[in-house]
Amino acid sequence: MKTYLITGGCGFIGSNFVRYILSNEKECRIVNLDKLTYAGNPKNLSDVDNDDRYIFVHGDICDEKVVDEIFSDYHPDIVFNFAAESHVDRSIGKPDDFIRADMFGVFTLLEAMKLHGGELFVQISTDEVYGSIEKGEFSETDPLMPSNPYSASKAGGDRLAYSYYVTYKLPVIVTRASNNYGPFQYPEKLIPLFITNALEDQPLPLYGDGKNVRDWLYVEDHCSALHFIMTNGVLGETYNIGGGNEMQNIEITRLILDHLSKPEGLIRFVEDRKGHDQRYALSINKLRQLGWEPKHDFTDGLRTTIDWYVSNNNWWRKIKSGEFREYYEQTYNLKVV
Ligand code: NAD
Ligand code: TYD
Repeated sequence: MKTYLITGGCGFIGSNFVRYILSNEKECRIVNLDKLTYAGNPKNLSDVDNDDRYIFVHGDICDEKVVDEIFSDYHPDIVFNFAAESHVDRSIGKPDDFIRADMFGVFTLLEAMKLHGGELFVQISTDEVYGSIEKGEFSETDPLMPSNPYSASKAGGDRLAYSYYVTYKLPVIVTRASNNYGPFQYPEKLIPLFITNALEDQPLPLYGDGKNVRDWLYVEDHCSALHFIMTNGVLGETYNIGGGNEMQNIEITRLILDHLSKPEGLIRFVEDRKGHDQRYALSINKLRQLGWEPKHDFTDGLRTTIDWYVSNNNWWRKIKSGEFREYYEQTYNLKVV
């Protein structure tokens, strides 16, 4: 039986991944270490709270004592490090927490595995570490050119994890996923923000000309890729995980409005994000050759996601009436009415 340490398991992707492992592995133990920042919500896992295979520890990945206790008490075989500050706009306003969690937090976890041992350390990185690309796609050997404090701190964690493979022979794999979407995403990111604003007849604040491009990966596909890499990936390697769905932000916005039968008049073009990367694009040939492919088509995935937000309005309404409101009004200079 494997013991997993999953950090950041109360966030968007982490909570989907905890559920994915519990549904796919009968015998396992999962320790979820989460600081419960504004983005961490224990309710994201309320359905597995009573599962004997699941243990929640409230703590910070930067806290050596907590991390060491977890390794001493539970001896995790496999670590998936999802814990991070994850929102670009917040990193532009206040980078401090990003540098701590996304770099020093990775260091603390790596040191603990170096001391206590373990089978595999998966560092969840992002396509944003490559920076923007005008044409073509990034592959794993391309140079990293991160251009905002979020992506720069993620690049630091990404390469630090690799350095522990080279220097200390720690069993590390790094994964770089494109933009995820799906259930339980905090409503500050493009897709859930626009769905929930549209449902409330609030404006949808589109940066610049709305023509920036992202590749979209349904969160369940991300989880299946990570699970696949855990058994088929090669230590020391880096794997891009993309959804094969490149879209301009304006196209996504129109799809959301159309699906909810809301007017285009809700679109509000606002001042562009500082240092806004124009386009992200990934080649997933390396992972495809190993035998993994995304299963979800964007139109279906988006529809399922919209339906989830429609059916779970208590979940996001509670978030949007809390700290989110002040953050939102400051970021966009828009009053919630
Ligand atoms: P999220 O913001 O929804 O969740 C982050 C979680 O980490 C929260 O539960 C938070 O409480 C926890 N956390 C933050 N700092 C912590 C700390 N110091 N100690 C312990 N827990 C802490 O993020 P997400 O969108 O689920 O992203 C998860 C990971 O995937 C991140 O590492 C992110 O960089 C990476 N990633 C995200 C995307 C995306 O599109 N969302 C794409 C590629 C990679
Ligand atoms: P986001 O979801 O923040 O992800 P990332 O910046 O990590 O790619 O943003 C996705 C795209 O949507 C990005 O080009 C910025 C744009 N965007 C807006 O136009 N308006 C918004 O309110 C947000 C949150 C994002």
